[in-house]
Amino acid sequence: MSPSYQALAAVGAAVGAVELIEQLGLGASAGEGKRPRLVAAMIASADGRAAVDGRAGGLGAPADRAVLRELRANVDAILVGPTTLIDERYSTLLDADHRERRIASGLPAEPIAATISRRLDPQLAQLQLFAQQDQRIVVYTESDQQIEARGAELTVSRSEPGKLTLASCLEDLYSNHGVRTLLSEGGPTLLRALAADQLIDDLIFTVSPLLVAGSAPTLLSGEAFEPPLGLALENVWRSDDFLFLHYTRQR
Ligand SMILES: NC(=O)c1ccc[n+]([C@@H]2O[C@H](COP(=O)([O-])OP(=O)(O)OC[C@H]3O[C@@H](n4cnc5c(N)ncnc54)[C@H](OP(=O)(O)O)[C@@H]3O)[C@@H](O)[C@H]2O)c1
Repeated sequence: MSPSYQALAAVGAAVGAVELIEQLGLGASAGEGKRPRLVAAMIASADGRAAVDGRAGGLGAPADRAVLRELRANVDAILVGPTTLIDERYSTLLDADHRERRIASGLPAEPIAATISRRLDPQLAQLQLFAQQDQRIVVYTESDQQIEARGAELTVSRSEPGKLTLASCLEDLYSNHGVRTLLSEGGPTLLRALAADQLIDDLIFTVSPLLVAGSAPTLLSGEAFEPPLGLALENVWRSDDFLFLHYTRQR
């Protein structure tokens, strides 16, 4: 049975994940300047923890996974931190239904998978993602470490030490890979860096009905922002006990 989403507004009708993501208007996005529109999607427990036993899966449910897949199906690329790619064991991004839908609307079967890493952990190339035949992968790095795909179509973009920036990666995705919409699936270190550079346009934040405690990261990891960065709440949905919050950057 498909998950349903009840808007909290008095007029809110239940919608499916397709309609929920349609409301973001990703198809009409052009990005800002020479960079794609960037949507960040994260899940945390009610006490703010972004992982259970080192992975996000323990926080999720079918309703959350449906939203994430739908987001992936509607963007040109995803941007994921190398630690998340490894910890979450990234493999196929979409199921057959989504792939067929993308192909029918003239898009490549899968969004590009991009990552940024100064060090270039050798474990990256061992991921199943790098063995997917029709997966395009773009790696931004400062390292001269070699990395090879085992089936995927891999582009490695190397910068001189100290020159790698998120803004330059986003501009490269926009200019050289035709990326107009970009989904960042975290993790918290990458999200903090994106937020610090004012590169997050939308945040889809799922609140999972769990209390986790412990020392797992929250949505953003790293030094505190002084002052904190403001968000504007655009919409709220619920599906069973899960909350889905759509924020945009306060300008
Ligand atoms: N709840 C959720 O929705 C969710 C989502 C994603 C991940 N997670 C969890 O978060 C954890 C992993 O997150 P994480 O914060 O440790 O790692 P991460 O954000 O996935 O990756 C961190 C790495 O990204 C690279 N990086 C980040 N910003 C950079 C920049 N400005 N320039 C160059 N490289 C940059 C660095 O790699 P180098 O060190 O190689 O330079 C850095 O060590 C896992 O437990 C995962 O399960 C949860």
